[in-house]
Amino acid sequence: MRKNIVAGNWKMNKTLQEGLELAKDVNSRVSGIAPKCQIVLGTPFIHITEVVKTVDSAKISVAAQNCADKASGAYTGETSAAMIQSTGAKYVILGHSERRAYYGETAEILKEKTDLALENGLLPIFCIGEVLSERESNSHFDVVKKQISESLFHLSAEVFGKIVLAYEPVWAIGTGKTASSDQAQEMHAFIRSLLVEKYGKEVADNTSILYGGSCNAGNAKELFANADVDGGLIGGASLKAEDFLAIITAF
Ligand code: PGA
Repeated sequence: MRKNIVAGNWKMNKTLQEGLELAKDVNSRVSGIAPKCQIVLGTPFIHITEVVKTVDSAKISVAAQNCADKASGAYTGETSAAMIQSTGAKYVILGHSERRAYYGETAEILKEKTDLALENGLLPIFCIGEVLSERESNSHFDVVKKQISESLFHLSAEVFGKIVLAYEPVWAIGTGKTASSDQAQEMHAFIRSLLVEKYGKEVADNTSILYGGSCNAGNAKELFANADVDGGLIGGASLKAEDFLAIITAF
């Protein structure tokens, strides 16, 4: 059966020292509880190695927030999936709307990144989601279907089994405006129906689909109570251990 996952996305926040403090704080708070979900910390690249050493790997995994679309070579400033894997990180967040919008990541680029992540043993947390105008024009289902099919549906059922999906309506990210519980469930059920159609019920049932976008201590319980919401990708509320723990314990 699919896993519940609560993944923090620190984005471009925290110096190395601040990040280690946060990781230690999360780790010590988690040590006293038996979380009902896999916990993931999505840190900046330079934090990963130290954070991996700091946390209890039985409860907390580490994610990169991106990887290169090339395997290796003369690509100044890039970080490959193999490099990320060599740090001990287990996951990589791919296709975040900020990367799509600010760094021009296309469906084709994200397909390359996904393949390289998987070939190097990383588990992608693949983000999808519509912008406000797309929801208002009622094209949000088509948009999400296109994002998933263009970057992921070349994968075999076996390989697709390694993918975690994160539905993040772009209008809800960092805005304090969360999707309602019904809107989240409706889209998550739609996404799962796409997976049933493409890969069959078993793969669909085993795929974790996270919700992201202003998820916080106040709304996590209601969101996670939905049948097809298997956890969250948490931005702002992952930057304070206390807030993040309140989301983890919403399960
Ligand atoms: P937010 O970010 O929780 O701050 O809205 C979520 C995300 O972008 O992953």
